[in-house]
Amino acid sequence: MSPVLLLALLGVTLPLPGVQALFCQWGTIQNVWNVSDLPLQWTPKNISCDSGLGCQDTLILIESGPQVSVVLSKGCTKAKDQEPRVTEHRMGPGLSVISYTFVCRQKDFCNNLVTSAPLWAPQPPADPGSLKCPVCLSMKGCLVGKTEEICPKGTTHCYNGLLRLRGGGIFSNLRVQGCMPQPDCNLLNGTQEIGPVGMTENCNTKDVLTCHRGTTLKKQENLSKEPTEWTTFNTETCEAGQVCQETLLLVDVGLTSTLVGTKSCSAVGAQNSQKTTIHSAPPGVLVASYTHFCSSDLCNSASSSSVLLNSLPPQAAPVPGDRQCPACVQPLGTCSSGSPRMTCSRGATHCYDGYIHLSGVGLTTTMSIQGCVAQPSSSLLNHTRQIGIFSVREKGDEEPPASQPEGDGAGGLESLTWWIGLTLALALWWGAVCPSC
Ligand SMILES: *[C@@H]1O[C@H](CO)[C@@H](O)[C@H](O)[C@H]1NC(C)=O
Ligand SMILES: *[C@@H]1O[C@H](CO)[C@@H](O)[C@H](O)[C@H]1NC(C)=O
Ligand SMILES: *[C@@H]1O[C@H](CO)[C@@H](O)[C@H](O)[C@H]1NC(C)=O
Ligand SMILES: *[C@@H]1O[C@H](CO)[C@@H](O)[C@H](O)[C@H]1NC(C)=O
Ligand SMILES: *[C@@H]1O[C@H](CO)[C@@H](O)[C@H](O)[C@H]1NC(C)=O
Repeated sequence: MSPVLLLALLGVTLPLPGVQALFCQWGTIQNVWNVSDLPLQWTPKNISCDSGLGCQDTLILIESGPQVSVVLSKGCTKAKDQEPRVTEHRMGPGLSVISYTFVCRQKDFCNNLVTSAPLWAPQPPADPGSLKCPVCLSMKGCLVGKTEEICPKGTTHCYNGLLRLRGGGIFSNLRVQGCMPQPDCNLLNGTQEIGPVGMTENCNTKDVLTCHRGTTLKKQENLSKEPTEWTTFNTETCEAGQVCQETLLLVDVGLTSTLVGTKSCSAVGAQNSQKTTIHSAPPGVLVASYTHFCSSDLCNSASSSSVLLNSLPPQAAPVPGDRQCPACVQPLGTCSSGSPRMTCSRGATHCYDGYIHLSGVGLTTTMSIQGCVAQPSSSLLNHTRQIGIFSVREKGDEEPPASQPEGDGAGGLESLTWWIGLTLALALWWGAVCPSC
């Protein structure tokens, strides 16, 4: 049989390799571990790739002293097949960067790396030299005043920079401090991409801002009268040009009240501004906000709602009027038709039943509100569309034009992570503070 005919027959019965859709292992890791925790193992997920695509494995280890940053990207790729390859982009002594890359199409799930072992072997302890440097590897920022560590022999300079990793589902800003055998901002030694992951470095550390990050939600009585704690446990390293922000929104309907707080890096907002706004004042529902944008490390550090409460005018004891209204505020949901009723203050002669839609870093929610107001057609926000980092829209406002999500798919992944972080935090909060709701 002629080879051509054989090929044709094969082509009919077996689709050519590379044309049939392939299943690949899929997943990402981006985190910092102790070197002593290695080798790591992981359980990948599945993905079905578009026709013609191959499967890829990319693993990057960046080591600084006792810590190692592990970046893993598995999934589909347009790249050509490539044998497994280990590359030392920068060897020690001191900081090192090493990678494993592999692209295959020969069978489903062929990108089957499930451990960091091929890239890692236990090292004998390095001989100490005479230099000392701050040593740090973190996606949350390196704080000043950290103790210095003794560098290995052969290193002569302290490195201090920021690596940005983008692509293949990876979106990470990694702060790196450690020991190097040379000056200059050249940890990557010319490497610009590893597999699908693009890499850049910046050692102009005054461009590198660290901010507090976290979302807080509270619902209880008297939040407009009694200050409450506003703490976050996370920090993050910002993008170039960003600032730190903190935003607090208070809604008090009388019988109950709610506070929504967020801290993060921010692209929005004037630098170094601080503002308290009363969007809706008694008699009736109180809506007030505090917004702060600033540009030094960890400057978004208010620790109590008093930053907002101290700027509110003193509230006179309410004089009861004639009107009764349902009173409810639900930061994450809808008010039931059976909300408790309250007697409105004199001057508040109408009932409000609506919502405020909030969307911003780490939180997108529709907050339901029922309470007393002075005017029949009252708007609580008077058509304000931005409160600090939050885009806001009240019942009755026009829908904003549908906007494209910013950035590429990686940005979407990141907001997903934040959202999961938030729901976890909420689960804890509801569980701890509100066991019976
Ligand atoms: C790393 O090791 C140090 C002490 O050796 C320990 O305090 C720390 O919790 C470890 N961190 C992780 C992420 O395991
Ligand atoms: C992944 O694919 C394998 C083999 O096709 C299958 O057995 C397994 O159930 C799949 N897992 C998921 C999470 O889809
Ligand atoms: C820098 O990269 C080149 C290959 O691109 C390699 O030969 C050299 O050893 C690397 N330098 C260091 C210090 O690791
Ligand atoms: C809220 O404040 C009112 C009046 O200031 C007070 O009577 C009430 O006990 C307070 N409620 C709580 C739970 O502290
Ligand atoms: C609502 O906003 C408009 C301008 O945007 C302003 O003129 C008006 O005074 C505001 N109303 C209240 C009740 O604050």
